[in-house]
Amino acid sequence: MARNDNRHVITVADPAALAKAAAERVIARIDDNPGRATICLTGGSSPKQLYQLLASDAYRSRIPWDHVHWFIGDERFVPPTDPLNNMAMARRIFLDACAPAGNIHPIPTDLADPEQSARAYESELKAYYGASVLNPARPLFDLMLMGVGSDGHTASLFPGYPATDETERWVVGVPKAHVEPFVPRVTLTFPALGSCREMLFEVAGADKRAILTRVLEGENLPAGRARALGETRWLVDEAALPETYRGR
Ligand code: 6PG
Repeated sequence: MARNDNRHVITVADPAALAKAAAERVIARIDDNPGRATICLTGGSSPKQLYQLLASDAYRSRIPWDHVHWFIGDERFVPPTDPLNNMAMARRIFLDACAPAGNIHPIPTDLADPEQSARAYESELKAYYGASVLNPARPLFDLMLMGVGSDGHTASLFPGYPATDETERWVVGVPKAHVEPFVPRVTLTFPALGSCREMLFEVAGADKRAILTRVLEGENLPAGRARALGETRWLVDEAALPETYRGR
């Protein structure tokens, strides 16, 4: 890419190595902020191995759980009992067993519609941050975990959707998804996702190679537009790595 940016592509062998590398970034970001570390999780299948690792003895004992707060970057507008619910997946795999309940911040999905749910989460984020305007000198999150979908979406910011143009709101409702599962969503916007010291994408598997190639070549897709105030890292396994990055 011509422009100088804060994006780094890091290659690992396979999904197991990817989960381990991501777990080390989680630990590093928590260690960097001994006061109150704030991690924003992601949904989908890509982070599952990472979440399992965080619950394992080796990692669980390295996390000062009382000092870490866990948010989620987007949610499917389904009850927490639904297997599609992103935060419920993270809770089931590691949070409920490891984190104090008050440090887990799900997007509420028991409100009338995604818009109300977005407003409620935005208020919660603002109260937690202690201000209603994001200050670039004081990022909201220490670490923002991200994934990329086959259409180039990230969080629930789908290509061409109005949510991708939002510059003021921190969280918005998305009435219809562009890809499966076709349920309404609630998503953080670019300004809120980007208010982080580090944004970490996890991408694994051959079926991600085509979309990753397009994103890294600079096509105008949400996953490529999402940038951290700090560093933006793409953790990619061999199978997903675009041809042009091989042997670099
Ligand atoms: C969601 C996600 C979404 C996800 C990508 C990748 O709610 O679905 O947060 O943005 O990260 O779709 O999903 P996979 O990891 O399942 O490929």
